Amino acid sequence: MDQPVEGFSKLSKEEKIDWIARRYTANPEATIKLLQQYWNSDKQLQQLHDEFIENTLTNFYLPLGVAPNFLINGKLYAIPMAIEESSVVAAASKAAKFWLDRGGFRAEVLGTEKIGQVHFLYFGDPRQLSEFIEGLQPLLRADAQGLTANMEKRGGGISSIELRDKTSDIEGYYQLHCTFETLDAMGANFINSCLEQFGATLVREAGKYPDFAKLDPPVEILMSILSNYVPNCLVRAEVSCPVADLGAESGISGADFARKMVQAVAVANSEPYRAVTHNKGIMNGVDAVVLATGNDFRAVEACVHAYASRSGQYRSLSRAEVSNGTFRFWMDLPLALGTVGGLTGLHPLVRMAHEILQKPNAPELMQLVAVAGLAQNFAALRSLVTVGIQRGHMKMHLLNILNQLSATGQEKEILIDHFKTHTVTHNAVVKALEAHRALK
Ligand code: MEV
Repeated sequence: MDQPVEGFSKLSKEEKIDWIARRYTANPEATIKLLQQYWNSDKQLQQLHDEFIENTLTNFYLPLGVAPNFLINGKLYAIPMAIEESSVVAAASKAAKFWLDRGGFRAEVLGTEKIGQVHFLYFGDPRQLSEFIEGLQPLLRADAQGLTANMEKRGGGISSIELRDKTSDIEGYYQLHCTFETLDAMGANFINSCLEQFGATLVREAGKYPDFAKLDPPVEILMSILSNYVPNCLVRAEVSCPVADLGAESGISGADFARKMVQAVAVANSEPYRAVTHNKGIMNGVDAVVLATGNDFRAVEACVHAYASRSGQYRSLSRAEVSNGTFRFWMDLPLALGTVGGLTGLHPLVRMAHEILQKPNAPELMQLVAVAGLAQNFAALRSLVTVGIQRGHMKMHLLNILNQLSATGQEKEILIDHFKTHTVTHNAVVKALEAHRALK
């Protein structure tokens, strides 16, 4: 068996690349060349990227596209999206255009509460703990003053600190369940620092509390960490229009289209197998904007899917209805996003994405991200209940297939033209390219 490597992080970037290439790849010289090809020629810019994480070898590109014509709360936006899936930006743009002519999207923030917890063990009298924590409230806040002063100046800070008894789940297990207002910051560092301070105050003061004298230790901290589940950091995005304004959709009437949309959402609401794919379509839009704006898409993903399961069953995030002749399509989405801190001020493309979005604050960014998700869901359902998804998908995938087949620029042009009137399948593209090459 190969020996593990010692002190890898201390090697220079060149040494790391050399080691990886020689140890794990068949053609080390080609690997080294490939990795170097993706380095930025601007050394300072490359160093910035190198320092985002440990053991950086090179950069990993994703396309950054933009979906224009999003009318949101009466203002026009072009939404930057970082994503590899070929049909996503096209679908978002189409949905934006569709709703542009029908009053656009509306979005509203319903709450901005963030959450963190100190998980600890205590094996004494629950009433004594409750009294102790009640008395400790001012000190918990005072000890965290150094951390919260700036946030408080801007109107944020610690909102509540609540003792929760979880001993029916785990023996001796209690929490300080804390809520925060972190304004334009996603808030992870702020919250975690506050929680660790709460933990330290709790241990110190419990050690001096006379009622706990017989307990050894009086309390034991298990961990202090924010929760990425933020059901009260919630934004609503919606569209609506008279059914009559929906217009005929690929062979079906506006009324039938509205009915099928409502039924498609009902299916996703009742059937988890469908709900996962339905919500995945929403996340195509959400993640692409979250990534482009330098936010934590893993946190958003984890939270959104927990929220989709809040009834005890995994369900559709979006909802649809027809009422009094009006079609309404909407979604509430929990989103913990930041427009300051983290990558937002560091990554030049992220900074630019914020500029394209007209420098939103965090609540505004929540609205834009939710709209991108709703638009994506609308576009997917619209295809699914009319012409099917593959027509659009394969059309967008055509270029990928042509690239896989090493088509030249001229061949691509000719084949894209050909497939305007023919159905795209991998086989059909191979055949058409062969036929075209045989003619030459
Ligand atoms: C593909 O990335 C997303 C869809 O499958 C979403 C859906 O089925 O609603 C098209």
